[in-house]
Order: sequence, then C-alpha cells, then structure tokens
Amino acid sequence: MQYFISHLTSHISNLTSHISNLNRTMNNISVIGAGTMGNGIAHVFAMKGHKVTLIDISEVALEKAMATIDKNLERMLAKERISGDDKAATLANLQTATELNAAAEADLVIEAATENVDLKLKIFKQLDELCKPATILASNTSSISITKIAAATNRAEQVIGMHFMNPVPVMKLVEVINGYSTSKETTQRVMEMSQALGKVPVKVNDYPGFVANRILLPMLNEAFYALFEGVAGVEEIDTVMKLGMAHPMGPLQLADFIGLDVCLSILRVLHDGLGNPKYAPCPLLVNMVMAGKLGRKSGEGFYVYTKGSKDLVVSNQFLA
Ligand SMILES: NC(=O)c1ccc[n+]([C@@H]2O[C@H](COP(=O)([O-])OP(=O)(O)OC[C@H]3O[C@@H](n4cnc5c(N)ncnc54)[C@H](O)[C@@H]3O)[C@@H](O)[C@H]2O)c1
Repeated sequence: MQYFISHLTSHISNLTSHISNLNRTMNNISVIGAGTMGNGIAHVFAMKGHKVTLIDISEVALEKAMATIDKNLERMLAKERISGDDKAATLANLQTATELNAAAEADLVIEAATENVDLKLKIFKQLDELCKPATILASNTSSISITKIAAATNRAEQVIGMHFMNPVPVMKLVEVINGYSTSKETTQRVMEMSQALGKVPVKVNDYPGFVANRILLPMLNEAFYALFEGVAGVEEIDTVMKLGMAHPMGPLQLADFIGLDVCLSILRVLHDGLGNPKYAPCPLLVNMVMAGKLGRKSGEGFYVYTKGSKDLVVSNQFLA
C-alpha cells in the first residue's frame, strides 16, 4: 500500500511538472526576416504581450517593417478594434536587430527569411548553436522540407513548421508542420501557442507542399493550362471560379498576388518531391517568369497593376 501511494504521488508529480512544462510561457520571441510575413508575425506576437525581436540583415527592411506594423495598428485603432494604449503597448514590445545573435534569449524563434534552402539551412545551424537548449525553432517556409531544415541542427525534435498565411494579422490559419523527428511536446506547445495568438492551428505532416500548397498550386496550374490552351480568357477563368465556386479571388488574380515566381518554385518542389507529372508547371507560367512578369510585385502578370489604382486590368498579352 505504502509503495502504491508513493508510486502514485511520484506519478502525479511527474504529470504536474509535465503539464507545467507544456504551459511554460514562451515569452521571448525572435522573428528572423522582416519582409511581408516577418512583420505580420512580429505584429501578432507583440499584440498578445510577447517581447519580440525582429531580425533582418537589412536595416531598410526593418524600418519598412516597423512602418508597416505602425500603419496596420493605426488602421485597427481607427476601426476601434484596439485602443491607443494597446497600440503603444504593442510597439513597446517590439525591438529590431541586424544580427542573428539577438535571438540568443528567445524561447521560440520563427524564421521567415527569403525562401532559399541554403539560406535556411545556414540560419538554422547558427540558431542551434546560439539559442538556449530548450528553444523551439520554427520555420514559416511555404515549401522547404522541415525534416531537411531540422537535420541541419542538433535538436531536430524541437524544429517545426509554423506556416502563417498572408496577411498574417488577418488570416486565421497556421499550418503546423511536423518534421520526421518533431517531438509530440514541441507540436503541442506550438499548437497551444498558435491558439493563444487567436489563430486556428492545423497539424499536418512534412511532405512536399504540406496541405495548403499541395492543393492550391495544382488548381492554379490548371487555370494557367486552361488559359494556355485557349479554353477561356483571363477574366472568364477568374469569373467562373469567383461566381461559380464562391472563391473570393479568381485563380489567375490570386497567382499574381502570390507572385508567379513563387508559384513556379512551389510547383517545382511538388514535381521534384512527389515525382508525378501532374505537377509539371505550365509552360506559360515558366515563360512569364523568364520574362520577368511576376504578377503584382513586378507590375504585370495576368493583369497589369498601376500604383494607386484598384482596377483589375487584363494584361495586353492576353487580350484578343
Ligand atoms: N509571402 C507570402 O504570401 C508567404 C506566405 C506564407 C509563407 N511564406 C514564406 O515566408 C518566408 C518569407 O517570405 P516573405 O514573402 O516574407 O519574403 P520577403 O522577401 O518579403 O522577406 C524576406 C526577408 O528576409 C530577409 N533576409 C534574407 N536573408 C536573411 C538573413 N540571413 N537573416 C535575416 N533576414 C534575412 C530579407 O532581407 C527580407 O527582408 C518564406 O519562407 C516564404 O516561403 C510567404
């Protein structure tokens, strides 16, 4: 009996310490890369009271990111979704740095640097060396294998994908990607953290394109083929999908928004990684990227974009 009680007590104490371990707050957050995604990720963590260090090799990118966060908070204030104090507190939670060393005290690091395998492997190797042993290292990559990134570190069980969607302060989903060696505890802590941010995390396994891009990109590619083969024009394809399928944006407009170079590189990841010819990028997409027509960011893709105008104007290339 005595043995049973002491065994039970030790079991309960282990369980309690395990739960408190799980709930251990990850207060200090570092975000690597202050581009489109990095500023949004820093914004949502800072708004929930975390101390955030936003790190980029470019001073200009950091200044631009802080100006974007300020502008987005100002818009929320104008809509009375936050108070002036909330805005001030959020900004006070943010600091910037140009050296990766600034992530040394982080409990959780989210890497949102440029989508380049060699760059990410280098960043994770350095983070592994400079961060505390308990720190969780997450990547916001859209398409690079989490397992491969994790293998560049000596803490593969604490490496995970946190795939936020653009724009981060608005979009609810976080695709939480388990690498081959990601531990259950790491996944659970990241799921809980994502919920605490007001997001809806969805757990998926690490295969090319995860879930979001595995399903989205083949649909976009099919729209490129429909245009390429003359099934219908740009506006017609987008109208069918908007009005017929209740998509908020047509697939060609969405591809322009994502960036045609990004679409091409994700299709290549699917094609190489899954080895199925159905993922082969449409030759029209390949040509457009070679011609520097990258969509909204270059001023032209399937549509042309003029500063200050919200009109959707089909590119001359696709007018009969
Ligand atoms: N843009 C999207 O819609 C979207 C959506 C989901 C996921 N993602 C992923 O998020 C990541 C970032 O994408 P983005 O669109 O924000 O890119 P971006 O080009 O807007 O920003 C990338 C930033 O990384 C910085 N950077 C480059 N090397 C660095 C280094 N060594 N250390 C620190 N910073 C460095 C660059 O200076 C730049 O400011 C990518 O992995 C991308 O696949 C993007």
